Amino acid sequence: MAAPTATAPPPHPRANPLLGSALDLRRSQIRTYERVMREVGDVVRLTAGPPGMRIDLYCVFHPDGVQRVLAGSREGYTKGNRFYSEIARTLGWGLLTSEGERWQRQRRLIQPLFTRRQIASYAGLMAEEAALLARTTMALKEAMRLYPPAYAVGRLLVDGDEIGGYALPAGANVVVCQYATHRHPRFWERPEAFDPDRFTPEREQARHPYAYFPFGRGPRACIGSHFAMLEAVIALAVLLKRFRVSSGLADVPLDTQGITLRPQGAVPVHLTAR
Ligand code: HEM
Repeated sequence: MAAPTATAPPPHPRANPLLGSALDLRRSQIRTYERVMREVGDVVRLTAGPPGMRIDLYCVFHPDGVQRVLAGSREGYTKGNRFYSEIARTLGWGLLTSEGERWQRQRRLIQPLFTRRQIASYAGLMAEEAALLARTTMALKEAMRLYPPAYAVGRLLVDGDEIGGYALPAGANVVVCQYATHRHPRFWERPEAFDPDRFTPEREQARHPYAYFPFGRGPRACIGSHFAMLEAVIALAVLLKRFRVSSGLADVPLDTQGITLRPQGAVPVHLTAR
């Protein structure tokens, strides 16, 4: 492939001439993203839908690009896309969906209630007890690397931009995909292997901050992340103290039709009392 120039549009995968990647995306969004990351590159243009009704999706997989999209400029990459208007229709223009001053006002008001210290105090946890749960936390983080509940987020690019040497046009639908970037082979050794030791504090520190972003990152990162982590770690630690959990399944089919990633149907597991 020729070296990209700033004016070149991102490459696209081989796709159905009539429908583009629509069928692949419909079958599995996340597997399509992951595949094109491996086969096409760090910035990929996916086209979906019949001629005349085509939608272009600009997918950004390299952590540098993810950083640009999530933290480059709030005015440049907005939530003014179809995905967020749909959410706003049901949830209203709250912290998750609002923009500009309205967002800033709400974020400033709520943020102090959600700091790590504040959350630990709600749970009556002392710092020492929290440290005991470190192993469980590492396992949970690794589980969310492989199976990020929020598997992709999108932005509307207001003006044009350049990412990784490729031109993205004004009005582009830009997607960053946790599921794909969390398996980026340049940032994760043996990406498919479950290995909680990836999340020792030293290894976390050494990693590109945008190689792992289950709670998003940048100014619009999840405000509930400490709360969610604490709740999940405590629930898991209490469960594992009483039971051994095993499953005969090698692979869990995933459902990506909703906003969050979940298993397709119930996952059978065996609980054995300790
Ligand atoms: C495992 C649980 C959770 C996951 C994986 C998660 C994931 C995320 C992600 C990826 C974003 C960024 C969306 C974007 O950039 O477009 C986000 C934003 C947000 N999350 Fe969460 N979240 C979780 C739990 C929670 C909880 C428990 C709360 C509330 C207590 C919460 C409230 C919010 C809010 C208000 C925002 C928008 C923040 C802003 O735009 O300023 N989340 N979340």
